[in-house]
Amino acid sequence: MATSGHDLVEPREQWGTRLGFILAAMGSAIGLGNIWRYPYVVYDNGGGAFLIPYFIAIATAAVPLLILEYALGHRYRHAAPFAFRSVRRGAEWLGWFQIGISMVIMTYYVVIIGWVLSYFYYSFGTRWGDDPDAFFFGSYLGTSDSFWAIGGIQWKVLLSVVIAWAITYLILRRGVRRGIELAAKILMPLLIVMIAVIVVRGVTLPGAAAGLNVLLTPDFGALTDAQVWVAAYGQVFFSFSIGFAVMIVYASYLRHRSELSNSAVIVGMANSGFEFLAALGVFSVLGFLASQQGTGVTEVVTSGVGLAFVAFPQIINEMPGFNSLFGVLFFGALLFAGITSAVSIMECAVAGVREKFRLSRTAAVNWMCGITALASVLYVTRGGLYYLDVVDHFINSFALIFAGLAEVILIAWIARQLGPLQAHVNRDSYLRVGWWWTISLTAITPLLLSAMAVINVYQEATTRYEDYPLSGLLVMGWGVVLVTLVLAVVLQRLRRHEPLPATIGD
Ligand code: ALA
Repeated sequence: MATSGHDLVEPREQWGTRLGFILAAMGSAIGLGNIWRYPYVVYDNGGGAFLIPYFIAIATAAVPLLILEYALGHRYRHAAPFAFRSVRRGAEWLGWFQIGISMVIMTYYVVIIGWVLSYFYYSFGTRWGDDPDAFFFGSYLGTSDSFWAIGGIQWKVLLSVVIAWAITYLILRRGVRRGIELAAKILMPLLIVMIAVIVVRGVTLPGAAAGLNVLLTPDFGALTDAQVWVAAYGQVFFSFSIGFAVMIVYASYLRHRSELSNSAVIVGMANSGFEFLAALGVFSVLGFLASQQGTGVTEVVTSGVGLAFVAFPQIINEMPGFNSLFGVLFFGALLFAGITSAVSIMECAVAGVREKFRLSRTAAVNWMCGITALASVLYVTRGGLYYLDVVDHFINSFALIFAGLAEVILIAWIARQLGPLQAHVNRDSYLRVGWWWTISLTAITPLLLSAMAVINVYQEATTRYEDYPLSGLLVMGWGVVLVTLVLAVVLQRLRRHEPLPATIGD
């Protein structure tokens, strides 16, 4: 029995236990996206009615793709580039493209974790003062007036980002079992307890019911709106970390005979359950804020940045008793969720270059963290918020969708590998995959992702995103997507080390 671990400087690492793998995969999926992105996406896309396309997206795309990525990583025992290359020579670029997407996401993801760290500290004694909006955009980020006014470095932000990098780096350096798995085993249970406390506190605040009503009152008319379906599929891709190259490498660290499909369902359910819980917590406290300010809930609902760093500090200011503690819990939860995802986002790159260039873990972690950390400084400038917004929008709306689409077309249509992968999953899995999995991956997912790609391109061509200057969208948006794709092709063409013949894990 050969293992492709032989072609590395060090033998291929493995998870200590199946629970360790599940917690690490949950840690990857449950991230910033679950706490600050999901609640707003639900609200903005028909409230309760959004749950219908959301669950359909989970059943037809997220879980089938998660099982597919586990099967790919586990069967071929490689990171994404060599896993795709094992499926078909010439497809290595797709793995590098997915790794590139992850690294681009990491350049700003780590900056948001940096902000979270600062706010964790500011929570002690509500140091953001009486006007959290002015504090965040003014004194903290020092956001400039226009897109290209890049301004100087914000040193306070830089300090926190350096700390966020240091934590990620140290976990990665310690390796799969002593780093990633250990961190997940400590942080995930803590995170679940923290979010449970936040929700219980949230729903018992005055005005919470009004917030929950706004979140859950269905607008069934939204179901006929294509944008709502695009939002549902976009959310599950980001939230499940699929198309990121992450789940492929995580599954490649499993033992030879491993259960795959049940783990995917557990991770999927935990991820969705967590984001739904987070939405309940977020909307109850928004209901409380509205009741304190004497306005409607819809007046106080914001997304992403505004939600975590403006609305939450306002809520914490207004809370009766133990408000600092609530802040510490909320920003602590964001921090733990963010760190476990950040580690996974970097691990796919670390594993990819280790295999291609035969590097030790330390060398690969140094290179990958070094390059990505340098790029992340862009968002620590006064114009950083604009660049973050544009890069995030383009990488998720175009690159990630394209990477997911290319993945299913390659496996299902070009290489016709669904049959062997299905047999591989079913060999050791309690939950057997069958016709549903095959139809989802051969027809439903490719069709829906193609439709999404067309809708997104049409949308982009007809409306300028957030009215940013065209030059900004070309450079930070299309430019970043294109450069990532070109680099992926270049990396495929670099002839370094060939993977050993794929091993099937039996
Ligand atoms: N899946 C991670 C998140 O939701 C990237 O933030």
